[in-house]
Amino acid sequence: MKHTVEENVRDVYSVTGEARLGNISLMSKEDVDRAIDQASDVQKNWKEIDLHTRARILHQWADNLVDKQLIIADMISHEVGKGMSSAKKEVLRTADLIRYTAEEGLRSHGDLMRGDSFKGGPSSKLAMVEQEPLGVVLAISPFNYPVNLAASKIAPALITGNAVVFKPASQGSLSGKLMIEALNDTDLPEGTVQLITGKGSEIGDFLVTHPKINMVTFTGSTQTGQAISQQTKMVPVVLELGGKDPALVLKDADLDLAVKQIVSGAFSYSGQRCTAIKRVLVQDEVAEELVQKLKEAINNLSVGDYQQESDISPLINTRAADYVEELIDEALQKGAHAVTGNKREANVIHPTLLDQVNEDMRVAWEEPFGPVLPVIRVQNEEEMVKLANLSEYGLQASIFTKDTQKAIKLGSQLEVGSVQLNAKTERGPDHFPFIGAKSSGLGSQGIRRSIESMTRDKLFVLNL
Ligand code: NAP
Ligand code: G3H
Repeated sequence: MKHTVEENVRDVYSVTGEARLGNISLMSKEDVDRAIDQASDVQKNWKEIDLHTRARILHQWADNLVDKQLIIADMISHEVGKGMSSAKKEVLRTADLIRYTAEEGLRSHGDLMRGDSFKGGPSSKLAMVEQEPLGVVLAISPFNYPVNLAASKIAPALITGNAVVFKPASQGSLSGKLMIEALNDTDLPEGTVQLITGKGSEIGDFLVTHPKINMVTFTGSTQTGQAISQQTKMVPVVLELGGKDPALVLKDADLDLAVKQIVSGAFSYSGQRCTAIKRVLVQDEVAEELVQKLKEAINNLSVGDYQQESDISPLINTRAADYVEELIDEALQKGAHAVTGNKREANVIHPTLLDQVNEDMRVAWEEPFGPVLPVIRVQNEEEMVKLANLSEYGLQASIFTKDTQKAIKLGSQLEVGSVQLNAKTERGPDHFPFIGAKSSGLGSQGIRRSIESMTRDKLFVLNL
């Protein structure tokens, strides 16, 4: 990120560094402390506000986002280098998510349990189980969906009566700020949501260990997520982290369908999605044909500028582009074959297909978060499952085959949160549970799951 720092303010530039978009405060620990204190105070009243009113406020927020979609999408587009059409989709998807969250929250009715439904239990006891808010939820979001992945934490926290301390990614903060302005332009009591800006590496530890933070919900890299989980004490933590999603292509697959899905899954937003397809495991019998078809499809991707809606555009920063280049170079040195791509212009990495990748290469295991797709040829399904599961990650996997029973059998052996049959890996729709296994996460998101994660049971036992 190109930036200039003056005292405690940092200018934020577009992803290409060409335009100054605005600035953010580099908040001090004292500022953060004040913000958390205020959220904690305000939450005591917020949780008493009736559910219907809280839902109405969320609907107001969604309406404001739709009204301001062009302004917000324009900021997303420049700040994180996304085409305007994807940026608009992100805003509208977020409005839908908020509305669904409001409705789902309205339908949270708790539970009623009879004592005598337990063998020998007393018929005189009746338990009313209610869901209480946790208090102050700390929401930390990544750069790649600066609005959607923030609102997916903030909306369920609010509908359940929590206050929110929201820390967006530094490159993404201006989009986050616009989204919060749309929220503050509702009947939400002042201070219920606190926006924290500044460098995660400087204020992150202070935030996640603050005694008035009652829950942490984080989306970002595995490295940061693991550091957070090692520091928090006695507060629930939900983590959505990195991935190395494999596409398993069986010899009976519809190859044209597989190619269409794999290319879209691997290269949309230049591969900067946790759910991007990040490796292909293909059976030898169809490997050559698949690689040729992938090459043809990848060569049809447009490369250039997000403002022209190019399929492939500059990565978020130079460090990210350097890392992708390093992975490609290492694989080539160790004998991989660059079928297409392997070219860099500034921070644009041309979409790269690597064939003959093997287990000794870093690109077989590491998450590039950029437009490079390694192909690993395998002899049989057992080898496919073994290689898929050897990864430290376990977000999603795709299986391409015409044999649904076989797909279910294989899918049940994969150590991942979700398995997609004959389609690319992806998170939505946003009410589906979204789970990372192994180093890909902890806990589950998705509207209903997020609501549940932000409450605790409170039991009233009626002794009749
Ligand atoms: P990141 O570098 O881990 O940053 C994520 C957030 O954490 C940012 O807000 C960052 O702030 C903050 N942060 C940094 N250091 C921190 C610390 N010590 N304590 C607390 N917060 C800290 O990730 P990213 O580069 O933005 O996003 C890319 C990664 O996220 C990829 O690995 C991708 O797979 C993953 N991701 C996962 C999902 C999922 O749902 N599974 C979704 C999207 C992305 P600063 O920006 O100020 O550093
Ligand atoms: O980057 C991670 C996001 O959770 C991916 O969401 O599959 O809708 O692009 P998506």
